[in-house]
Amino acid sequence: RQAISSEAATVHSVSDVDALSGIDWENFGFGLRPTDFMYIIKCKRGGEWGKGELQPFGNLEISPAAAVLNYGQGLFEGLKAYRTADDSILLFRPEENAMRLNAGADRMSMPSLPVDTFLHAVKQAVLANRRWIPPPGKGSLYIRPLLIGSGGVLGLAPAPEFTFVIYVSPVGCYFKGGLAPIDLKVESFYHRAAPGGTGGVKTIGNYAPVLKTQLTAKGKGYSDVLYLDAVENKYVEEVSSCNIFMVKDNVISTPELKGTILPGVTRKSIIELAHSRGYEVLERPVDVEELLVADEVFCTGTAVVVNPVGSITYESRRVKYNNGEVGKVAQELYEALTSIQMGHTEDKMGWIV
Ligand code: COI
Repeated sequence: RQAISSEAATVHSVSDVDALSGIDWENFGFGLRPTDFMYIIKCKRGGEWGKGELQPFGNLEISPAAAVLNYGQGLFEGLKAYRTADDSILLFRPEENAMRLNAGADRMSMPSLPVDTFLHAVKQAVLANRRWIPPPGKGSLYIRPLLIGSGGVLGLAPAPEFTFVIYVSPVGCYFKGGLAPIDLKVESFYHRAAPGGTGGVKTIGNYAPVLKTQLTAKGKGYSDVLYLDAVENKYVEEVSSCNIFMVKDNVISTPELKGTILPGVTRKSIIELAHSRGYEVLERPVDVEELLVADEVFCTGTAVVVNPVGSITYESRRVKYNNGEVGKVAQELYEALTSIQMGHTEDKMGWIV
């Protein structure tokens, strides 16, 4: 496989062949659509990161003894690039992803990556694949950085070599039906994370265990699963792939970060946006019973953006919100956030790159 210099890839990509013509944007969901290039950097244990390079998107060659395959030594990130009407490309708070990756690297005994290196890699991956960025208002280019223990080990130990790779895919809405309210099932047997565990970092091992409950819930017609804390089994934590918020009497509450909840970049941005718009926002323990009497509930995440919750089912009780309509607060915050992300309003928060 031949490495392609960044300059070459950038030149290649400006001849924007229309990669996305004929797409039905209304039904363009969140799925993998392979693009042209991926960006790769490697590092030996205890060494420095080497020179990054773009390569054609394709399979990675990896030892069957790789630490990521055997012991789950891996982290991922998620962020998005948006195309504007004047054909600029916007990234939303990419430094936040770099910092979260490094917090996770510390927890997973992997080398951290300088924020500038992360940003350069993201920009190269996006520019090389720019023909895959959906038109303004039609979706986004999802950027998936991975940090993995790629070197082989047998005894339980950190990998002797690490790989940082970024691939991208054009995406539409995460849940079927776009901004339509979703139906959540509260899970009270399985837990997503325990105190002292890894729930607060974006390690790959946090995600496969939720598939069992998610698939069961989907089989019963729910959109996704809401997890409770592993100690008292009554405080709300997060949904399989996103954070959760509730609104009662115009006060917004979301579970506080205490090591078991993913510190979402969208979660943080929504808290800051809501504050700036005059809302009281509380980060605190949220009892599942409170959720059942809330005025509004919504989820946030990079993939999910801001998605209203239409109903929650907890044991034998099912509560519906807003008669199946999008709640007022979720709508307001969705519009405020996405208009910054898509470059429709001035970026007073300094979030756009
Ligand atoms: C994201 O929102 O970027 C995530 O990483 C969630 C993932 C399960 C799609």
